[in-house]
Amino acid sequence: MTSADSALPIILDCDPGHDDAVAILLAVASEKIDLKAVTTCFGNCSIDDATRNALQILTLAGEHDVPVAKGAAGPLVQELELGNYVHGESGLDGPAMPAPAFALDERDAVTLMKDVLEASATPVTMVITGPMTNLAQLFRNHPAVTPRIREVIFMGGSTERGNHTPSAEFNTFADPEALQEVIDSGVALRMVGLNLTHQALAVPDVVERMRAMDHVVGQTSAEWMGFFGNSYNQVWSFEAPPVHDPCTIAALINPDLITWQRTFLAVELEGKWSRGETITDLHNRFGNEPNADVAIGLDRDAYWDLVLNAIDSLGQKNS
Ligand code: BDR
Ligand code: CA
Repeated sequence: MTSADSALPIILDCDPGHDDAVAILLAVASEKIDLKAVTTCFGNCSIDDATRNALQILTLAGEHDVPVAKGAAGPLVQELELGNYVHGESGLDGPAMPAPAFALDERDAVTLMKDVLEASATPVTMVITGPMTNLAQLFRNHPAVTPRIREVIFMGGSTERGNHTPSAEFNTFADPEALQEVIDSGVALRMVGLNLTHQALAVPDVVERMRAMDHVVGQTSAEWMGFFGNSYNQVWSFEAPPVHDPCTIAALINPDLITWQRTFLAVELEGKWSRGETITDLHNRFGNEPNADVAIGLDRDAYWDLVLNAIDSLGQKNS
């Protein structure tokens, strides 16, 4: 059996975004991941910007064979709110990016997800690093394919406080109805929230290790961290940016990186101030049946070794 045969098939649904970009690099670089498709969603920027960014990031990574399809332009129910205040006008401000070297898939994101799920010999892991809109649409439009999903692992929510609002994390705020529909589907679900990703800070030593790489992928990654870090400093007074989204991919590559707690999970749809907040009942106060695993602890050194080795291996391969 080759490593490609044993690699975990995934679809990465994202809204790139600086940290989504690093998640894409990690997925492309790892022999343990079989990246079947990249689908895009509004979120950090408009759907057109997110889609162009995805094509450019894969081009930077030297990966031209993974299909990329455009998804939702806005949430299921509420008004559109974007994250350009963090990721800049393009959604991926900072370094110059290469022109896309390959074309967008003609299918929409939900159709591509369905086709990949139907074609895969083994169940597929859905990795969501933006709003949950595309997946909710898949569940609405193609319920017959959902048993082909191994699990959903998503970056979003928190066991603690939020970022877009005091209580809500951006991705869960951006389309809470979509997340609740996915929770209600009963699919196996793992949440990687801010309580975990705030342990994944790109501290100066990490950025220096990127900058020391003698290739464009390392230099570009360092510049992404510079732009992202500046936003996190200005908006939230962080001294280093939390690199949220690759934590999902890292958990799939190395199951020992993250500790988990099984719990009841819901998302606030009604709160006057707290709409989009995730409810994680870590002490079982409601007595509800647990329906998700939430990430609790990160081995940060192992995380950064994994991410930096991935960036370096891609950069060297493409030099
Ligand atoms: C999430 O929102 C976006 O800014 C990031 O890409 C990440 O997915 C963090 O709240
Ligand atoms: Ca994201």
